[in-house]
Amino acid sequence: MGATTEPIPQEPMFEVEDLSSVLPMTAEVVSGHLRIGGVDMAKLARERGTALYVMDEAHIRNQLREYVKWTTFHWKDCETIFAGKAFMSVAMCRLVAEEGCALDVSSGGELAFAQAAGFPLERVYVHGNNKTMLELHEAIRAGVGRIVVDSFEELQRISCIAQEMGVEQGILLRITPGIKPDTHGYIQTGQNDSKFGFGLNHGLAMEAVRRAVELPGIDFAGLHMHIGSQIFALQSYSKAIEVIVHFMDEIMRETGVAVRELDTGGGLGIAYGLPDEPSTVEHYGKVIVDGIKEHVEEHDLPVPKIMVEPGRSIVANAGVTLYTAGTIKDVPGIRTYVAVDGGMTDNIRTALYDAHYEVLVADKADQPRKEVVTIAGKHCETGDLIARDVRVQPIEIGDIVCVCSTGAYCQSMASNYNKQVRPAVVFVADGESRVVVRRETYDDLLRCEVG
Ligand SMILES: Cc1ncc(COP(=O)(O)O)c(C=O)c1O
Repeated sequence: MGATTEPIPQEPMFEVEDLSSVLPMTAEVVSGHLRIGGVDMAKLARERGTALYVMDEAHIRNQLREYVKWTTFHWKDCETIFAGKAFMSVAMCRLVAEEGCALDVSSGGELAFAQAAGFPLERVYVHGNNKTMLELHEAIRAGVGRIVVDSFEELQRISCIAQEMGVEQGILLRITPGIKPDTHGYIQTGQNDSKFGFGLNHGLAMEAVRRAVELPGIDFAGLHMHIGSQIFALQSYSKAIEVIVHFMDEIMRETGVAVRELDTGGGLGIAYGLPDEPSTVEHYGKVIVDGIKEHVEEHDLPVPKIMVEPGRSIVANAGVTLYTAGTIKDVPGIRTYVAVDGGMTDNIRTALYDAHYEVLVADKADQPRKEVVTIAGKHCETGDLIARDVRVQPIEIGDIVCVCSTGAYCQSMASNYNKQVRPAVVFVADGESRVVVRRETYDDLLRCEVG
């Protein structure tokens, strides 16, 4: 046999440290290279260009299945609704439909994506604290399953539009249960001082129920709550469930109407950093579904259909962003900046929430992460950082930098600041990659210019 220059394939492993909690489930290191979905990330980046969002299809499907499994395990009439705001694309809508899950949309634009994907519209839930008349018309005309109502004005508007169209629109009322979960202030939504929903204090929520029951063109199906995002302590859900089921009992006593559906929102936290230990979907399913069953039984109420609305915990760890290291600036005694070909335009979370990310070099993934650097973006803001003082393998210019856990609220919050084109999104599975959102071009940027 002749000598070969091919490297001897090694067993997939993380020799140095276990990054599996922040990487997609199919991530592996083979001959020093990070692979996701069987695809070599450094090679993919060089073929498709950077910055690049990569999503592991198997991970997304697995998470949706976990939610379906661990909610219906406790009560058969449960539905998992993917919160499209976390990551929305036509391919994602199709994947959600294939998994038999429902979809939450928060704008006319997100509804248009669901329609473009051929998503079953009776399984679409429409959110937003100030849906425009146009958005309400579009949603009702499209035949969406439920509109989650946020205000008295909106109730009235839906009633008028539905009557005009000769239909009855199913709605849920969004209730703020007065619970403040332990998470970043910007992503707490269930407290009394919130722009969302009807508060329980001062009788507002009960008044909304009375109007919803009486108004023509409206089918009052039930209640919705969402207390916040990136929640680790599940007791916040237990408290909120106790409060909302108590309110269901008040509704029954005061109006004789049974709440048929209860949507407890999303919010389960995920690991962004190695020390993070979020709850499992199994535990979450038990807390939510068993908690509701326990309290409705106490009040002698029928068990409603139960919906959960996760976003981040479906897609965040499924995604990574790949960049190319462009410049390295050492500020002696202070820090080393590694600037990449993206930044706050493809990931605003660090500037917005001081988010933490784990980072690795895609083709040195078996080396110890022993350098500490700051991964900076290329935009004209000092706050344009992606990962501050993060451990990473020795980086050289031209290396492919992989930022972990970027599948949620990065692409969906991306912007064109500095007239930056937004990156492509690639789905990987079974050793294949497919572009599901192409990279923008300058023509895309100029498309709306008419002056
Ligand atoms: C109404 C509603 N439902 C669901 C979600 C999804 O939350 P998460 O991505 O934390 O699961 C959000 C996020 O803000 C939301 O506002």
